[in-house]
Amino acid sequence: MDYITSILKENRVFYPSHEFSRKSHIKNIQEYSKIYKKSIENPEAFWAEKALQLDWFKKWDIVFRNDYGFFKWFEGGYLNVCHNCLDRNIKSGKKDKIAFIWEPESGESKSYTYEQLLKEVCKFANVLKKKGVKRGHVVEIYLPMIPELPIAMLACARIGAIHSVVFAGFSYDALKDRIQDSKAELLITADGSFRNGKIYQLKDNADAALKECPAIKNVIVAKRANNKVSMANRRDYWWHELVNEKGISDVCEPESMHSEESLFILYTSGTTGKPKGILHTQAGYLLFAYQTFKWIFDIKDNDIYFCTADIGWITGHSYIVYGSLSNAATIVMYEGSPTYPNPDRFWRIVEKHKVTIFYTAPTAIRALAKEGGDWPNKSNISSLRLLGTVGEPINPEAWMWYYNVIGKNKCPIVDTWWQTETGGILISPLPGATPLKPSSATKPFFGIIADVLREDGSKANVNEGGYLVIKNPWPGMLRTVWNDPERYKHTYFEKFGVYLTGDSAKIDQDGYFWIMGRIDDVIKVAGHRIGSAEVESSLVSNEAVAEAAVVPFPHEIKGQAIYAFVVLKRGIKKSEELKEELKRHVAQHIGPIAKPDKIQFADDLPKTRSGKIMRRILKVIAEGSTDYGNIMTLADPSVVDVLAKDRVK
Ligand code: WT7
Repeated sequence: MDYITSILKENRVFYPSHEFSRKSHIKNIQEYSKIYKKSIENPEAFWAEKALQLDWFKKWDIVFRNDYGFFKWFEGGYLNVCHNCLDRNIKSGKKDKIAFIWEPESGESKSYTYEQLLKEVCKFANVLKKKGVKRGHVVEIYLPMIPELPIAMLACARIGAIHSVVFAGFSYDALKDRIQDSKAELLITADGSFRNGKIYQLKDNADAALKECPAIKNVIVAKRANNKVSMANRRDYWWHELVNEKGISDVCEPESMHSEESLFILYTSGTTGKPKGILHTQAGYLLFAYQTFKWIFDIKDNDIYFCTADIGWITGHSYIVYGSLSNAATIVMYEGSPTYPNPDRFWRIVEKHKVTIFYTAPTAIRALAKEGGDWPNKSNISSLRLLGTVGEPINPEAWMWYYNVIGKNKCPIVDTWWQTETGGILISPLPGATPLKPSSATKPFFGIIADVLREDGSKANVNEGGYLVIKNPWPGMLRTVWNDPERYKHTYFEKFGVYLTGDSAKIDQDGYFWIMGRIDDVIKVAGHRIGSAEVESSLVSNEAVAEAAVVPFPHEIKGQAIYAFVVLKRGIKKSEELKEELKRHVAQHIGPIAKPDKIQFADDLPKTRSGKIMRRILKVIAEGSTDYGNIMTLADPSVVDVLAKDRVK
């Protein structure tokens, strides 16, 4: 049963236990409603009060300002994000508390206290300075899930450099595009990364990308895999050698950063063209990550928090690094695959480190549920008290499995809806307060006014699907698209004048939000955001291909997978081998996550008379449905039947 049909039938409600509510930050739905009402009546007062919990070098002059559609928070204020994540906690007595427990795929974990982490960060910050990195420079980071990754990010934040992390699962084309667009001069990478027991040649990818990135003058290489790599003379340096050089101190004063200076760029896929660099700034982002983490994950001093996301995505930025560290949490970061060496790896980690809060993605839940209930029962996972999910809609069946088998009917599930652009969670239950409905992200966080609109901008009825929008600014929102302010305005604000999320949703009779999925040409493959345009240009870059159109189709584990319609150049023979080659081509250029699951060769694609490919119709064909809607606007409506006949099942 597909997701939409199953949510339409969903009417179960689950309440947090009395015990859980009593100890939580927000204790019941009345308390939520009261604070929510106040927070949206006067968001500035709400956020200003919360901002006092951070350490400021100089307090702000003005809480919020709309500068012709570019939003500014806490102007006139100065702070340092790294200082707030580390020094501030050390000052308040947390110096020996564990910040990170790193669990490598090979199993020998290593931990860092807040004090140890600060020293490593300071040393590396001093290395960056010595290599000429200055406040406002962009530093590209292409690292796997090893401690050097958060250390490098925090070191950048400490000296006021802007980091741009590229997911280590991306390949050289994706890396090259991001480096070129961000204009970085320094790249941090590793000699390899581990997944499923195999070594991935990260440095080779980096070298391939760097051939077309002459602006990069220095490359710092972390040793992870003891893998033989080539090191370019006077460009490539080993991390461990640089930090151990004489004169590299473990003290580094944090830069005093203006609230609206840039903190990081993170690229994400959009409807058209190349990925866009989403820009987040200092104070508002930190505050939003801090406050959402605190209340949505109901964090307490003795919690052990495990988020399975990769830091290369926004989930890791906000809820492995900034939101969690600023709350002085103990965070488990895991390097490898959920199924290595067996499908109980996560549960083994939960048992080993006595994890209390566990945050993962629906695709992982579905994959692990499929392996059967015995795997979780082999570990003692009774330390768990709260579960979370993010990245795509979670179907009720997966939700129930998570709730029963992992949560043993006692752990609330926070289904957290948000995006790279939003900086932090916007719609989610508060675990001690909100009654849960499986598959619903429930209600907006404090200070957030979310709504569902029709095409004409009017408000949708109860239970009517439409465009999910956010009607007011919030501190964690993106500030612009890097190097492209016009694209920022056009993508997010042109259609309705309020923030357009790109998702469709409905609101039920109780004010609960049900997210139905992307409404644009973004595909969520296993929760990863892939633009159809990127996959299409990768396919077309293969010499056999004349034209390509890429759409999603429903997939049992991944949620959505990629279906590509490919028109070959004249004279090229259609064959199964060529399909495999094209799949490999995409995996090699963008990364394995962008690989089409299905390829259909076509002689023609459905186009409008002006030549625009109608992906909407291709999507219906890929789904195996015949519900095409109006096809009379096509230049040649007969192509639809031909394509449907040849569908790859
Ligand atoms: C898109 C944003 C935010 C962290 C990871 C993804 C989808 C995200 C949920 C959820 C239904 C969700 C949306 C959104 N999404 N969380 N709880 N329920 N859909 O960040 O890569 O920027 O993707 O992920 O479609 O627009 P992202």
